[in-house]
Parts: sequence; structure tokens; C-alpha cells
Amino acid sequence: MRKPVIAIDGYSSTGKSSISKIIAQKLGLVHLDTGALYRGITYFALNHCIGEDGQINLSDLFSRFKEIQLEFKPIDTELVMFLNGQDVAKEIRSNEVNENVSLIARQKEVRDFLLDAQRKMAEKGGVIMDGRDIGTVILPNADFKFFLTASVEERTKRRYLELKGLGIKTDENTVRENLISRDKTDSEREVAPLKKADDAIVIDNSLFTKQETIDLILSYLKTF
Ligand code: DC
Repeated sequence: MRKPVIAIDGYSSTGKSSISKIIAQKLGLVHLDTGALYRGITYFALNHCIGEDGQINLSDLFSRFKEIQLEFKPIDTELVMFLNGQDVAKEIRSNEVNENVSLIARQKEVRDFLLDAQRKMAEKGGVIMDGRDIGTVILPNADFKFFLTASVEERTKRRYLELKGLGIKTDENTVRENLISRDKTDSEREVAPLKKADDAIVIDNSLFTKQETIDLILSYLKTF
């Protein structure tokens, strides 16, 4: 039997990735955190494409795509992202990457660069992919589409605890401001904006535990 293709989109820090990871383990699917791809490119740009003004030089970045190799490698039960052979799982969560990733993600050149690779990963089915434009642009024919949302307060709390767990120093105010500004840039960009697909199931998980959100999604997946 063919395994399903599942798209999970939504706002920052609604738990998309951690929830997708657990559902993938439970159902024997591959989980792809597409945000990690945009973060990987941002990390590369911050290290190699800074102009004289101290900002990322986008045309320099676009001309260096061929130097960027992003791979997901299985380590234990997880897929960990490698950039040019280096495990960058922690580096891509830094404040610096958080502050620059929306600028990178709104560039058409960047989205085009990542489009085919993402589609290819889902070609054989058995995939749960989370991001912002999975149900609308990357996998419009996904078998299931979910769109996660939650209050800014709740999302701030979650992201703050996640960063703290990773040993990244920050404060709740910085986290809140970054979430709000990223969601705004991601929703307002011209190419593949953060948007609910018409046929996506919306889940507001402000008042749900992670397990409750997982159970709710699994209850929809039973029909496959
Ligand atoms: O899910 P995340 O917070 O790790 O995503 C990082 C950024 O990448 C986010 O601000 C928006 C962007 N992104 C995107 O534009 N499209 C995706 N499919 C995934 C992420």
C-alpha cells in the first residue's frame, strides 16, 4: 500500500517540526523539516556572503548556490541536516540565523533553488513535510494538509524554552519580536507566502499539549 504524503504548514513555533517528527516515527514515514533548508542557506550566507556594509550580499549568494550542498542524514532515529558535510543542526537555530532567515526565504532565487529537491523527496510517498508553502506550492496534491496556528504568547514561551534547551542565550522579548517579524515577512512576501491551503485542516493548538495536537492529527490520518 502506498504511504501518504502529508503537508504541515503554519506559523513559527506552533510545533510543526517536533509534532511531525513524532508522527513520522509512529507511522514509519520520513520527516522533512524544510525550514532547516532555508536556515542552512542563511547560515552559509552569513559565513560566506557578507558585503562591505556588513549585510548579506544577495547577488553574491545567488552566484554561489553551486557551492551549497544540503543533505539530511539519518542519525539515530532522526534526520540531521548537513551543510557541505558539516552537521549544522545547532548553528542553524542561532539568533543570527533567526534574524536573517526570512530575508533569505523571501528570495525567488532561493525558493527556486530548493523547489525541485523538496518535490523529489516526496516523490515516492511516505513523507511528512513541514514548512510554510508545502500544501500550497511544493506539494499541492498532498494526501493530507494541516495548518497549525497558536497565540503569540504561547508560541513565544515554546520557542524560548526550545532555545534555552539548545543552550542559546536569549530573552522572551527578543524571541517574541523575532516571531512577529518573521511571520509578517513570511506572510507578506510575493513568492510562496505563508498561507493556508484552501483544503488544509486548521488546528489552533494554543490550548493543546503537544500530545493532544499529535492525537488530533492522527485521528484525521486514520482515514488513509
Ligand atoms: O520552520 P522554521 O522556523 O525553522 O523556518 C525558518 C524560516 O524559513 C521561516 O521564517 C520561514 C522560512 N520557511 C519558508 O519560507 N518556507 C518553508 N517551507 C519553510 C520555512
